[in-house]
Parts: sequence; C-alpha cells; structure tokens
Amino acid sequence: MDLSVQIGSLTLKNPLIAASGCFGYGVEYADTVDLSSLGGIVVKGLFLAEREGHPPPRIVETPSGMLNAIGLQGIGVHRFIDEKLPELRARGATVIVNICGTTIDEYAEIGRILSDADGVAALELNISCPNIKEGGITFGCSLTGTFDVVNAVRRVTRLPIIPKLTPNVTDVASFARASEEGGADAVSLVNTFLAMVIDVETRRPKISNVVGGLSGPAIRPIAVRMVYECHKAVNIPILGMGGIADARDALEFVIAGASAVQVGTANFVDPLIWPKLLSGLCDYMNRHQIARIRDLVGSLDTQKAVAEKSST
Ligand SMILES: Cc1cc2nc3c(=O)[nH]c(=O)nc-3n(C[C@H](O)[C@H](O)[C@H](O)COP(=O)(O)O)c2cc1C
Repeated sequence: MDLSVQIGSLTLKNPLIAASGCFGYGVEYADTVDLSSLGGIVVKGLFLAEREGHPPPRIVETPSGMLNAIGLQGIGVHRFIDEKLPELRARGATVIVNICGTTIDEYAEIGRILSDADGVAALELNISCPNIKEGGITFGCSLTGTFDVVNAVRRVTRLPIIPKLTPNVTDVASFARASEEGGADAVSLVNTFLAMVIDVETRRPKISNVVGGLSGPAIRPIAVRMVYECHKAVNIPILGMGGIADARDALEFVIAGASAVQVGTANFVDPLIWPKLLSGLCDYMNRHQIARIRDLVGSLDTQKAVAEKSST
C-alpha cells in the first residue's frame, strides 16, 4: 500500500500532517507521538521576532469546535532554528515552518533565513490568521497581496512554498489561482473562520481579542466545499484541513481533492489520534482495493449525484 504524497519536490511518507498552532513546535509531543511517523509537522507560526500574543482568555469551547485568538505568540525564527530544529531533525520529523509577516519583506526575510537552515522541508505562508491586525490576513484577503507574498518568497527559496488560505473570502478558488500564479508549490486551506462568542450575563466577549478564529468539526463541511472548489481551479496539490477528527473525515478531504490533510483541533482532544488516523486510512484502502492514496485524490463522483437528482 502506497501512502506517499508529493508536494512539489517534497515527498511525504503519508498524507497526515499536524496543523500549525495545534502541535506546538513538535518537540512538545515527541515523547507521546513518534514524530517520524507523521507525513509532516507544521510548527506554530513564526515572525522574525518573538511575540507575546494576546492576553488571556484566548480560547473558548464552542459547539463542535473552539474559538481562539492566540495572536501568534511565538519565539521568532532565530530561536526556533537554535532551540527546536535540532531536536526535530534528530527525531526524523518532516518539518514545515508556518511563517508570518507584517510586511512582504518580512515574509521574504524569514523565507531566506529558513532556506539556509538544516532540516526545513517546506514553508507554509500564513497569510490567513484572523487574529492579528497588521499584515498577514490583509495579504490573504487581496488577490494581488497573495500573489505578491508568494512571489517574493519564491524569489528567495527553492524550498516548496505553501500559502495557507483564509476561508473568510467569497471566492477561495481565486486565491488558490493567485497562489499558483505567484509560484506556489501547493496551497493549504482552511485557516480559521472569523467568529465571536458572547457571555450574555456579563455582556462581554468570551475572549480578550473580542473576535477569534473558529476551528473544529463545526467548520468541516465548509472546508470540504472549499477544497473541492480549489481542486477544480488549480493544478498544484492541496493540503486540506478543518475539523478532521477521524479517518473518515480525512478521506472526505482527499476525495474532494486534497493530496494531504492537516489535523489541528482534534489533536487537543486526543493527542494519540495519529496511529488511529493512519490505520483508518489503510483499512479504507484495503476495503476499496486502492493501492495508492494519490489515486483517491479528487475522486469525487458527482455524476451519481447529478443522475440521482435528475431521476427525482
Ligand atoms: C489554538 C490554535 C492556534 C493556531 N495557530 C495557527 C498558526 O500559528 N498558524 C496558522 O497558519 N494556523 C493556525 N491555526 C489554524 C489551524 O492550523 C487550522 O488551520 C484550523 O484550526 C482548522 O483546522 P482544525 O479544525 O483541524 O483545527 C491555529 C488554530 C488553533 C485552534
């Protein structure tokens, strides 16, 4: 059975990737999860400098999901390279670094620095965090901004680059196209949905930033639809995510068009989810006699739906 997937020049041993912000810098989980058994790990978003993020409360549980506004707290790219990357390398992890910037130059500078670091497999460009005001999502909500960030990083690195798209737009496929035109090797989607929770007794927002990003199973059907739309629009691979909590959920994304999937919120519920996801995928492939996972990508049969609709 062949579970490997190709993301630009990068081969992942399987399609299961830990999503940014939900798996720390990977090293925190090293005693619980065999990091080398994952297709990849996307580390917490990094700016050039360290950042404190927003004050608490920063997360709140919602029906079938959670709202967060961490505000991209992080140790900065230099400390990451010095303090985290050596252990990730030693543990055999495939490391994808999620990079953030307030300016296009900052994205390019971080991209350049990480290209020179030993042990970085790919760069995920975070142009979609809904929880910070400066940079980031401003680029991700503009087609030219998306193109410009991707293109600027493309010029400084040979590493695969994977812009991460926001779902907070009307036509996500056009952002996938702008990414492809800018030179991206793949796109990741979706980041969180801008949302809000209010405590009616105090009439205060439940998180300090007032609004935050919604994740978890509540968003999954919307994310699957967006992956489906992007798959029809571009030729580069898609890393799909949003509410994946078991192998069946992961397969929905693959059938909709994702070459690989990322798992975020579910990891907080069950950090031991990874071997269960992997065996669930293998079981499905066995039952359906599918030798290579890549043959499932985008295999959605819409003809049946059309035929059923026209016969009723
Ligand atoms: C607490 C938390 C922190 C996150 N931090 C980041 C981040 O630093 N960079 C990023 O691109 N996405 C970040 N995300 C978004 C996730 O990577 C993922 O896109 C989103 O949560 C949807 O997937 P899920 O429903 O499986 O969690 C974060 C999500 C959560 C819940």
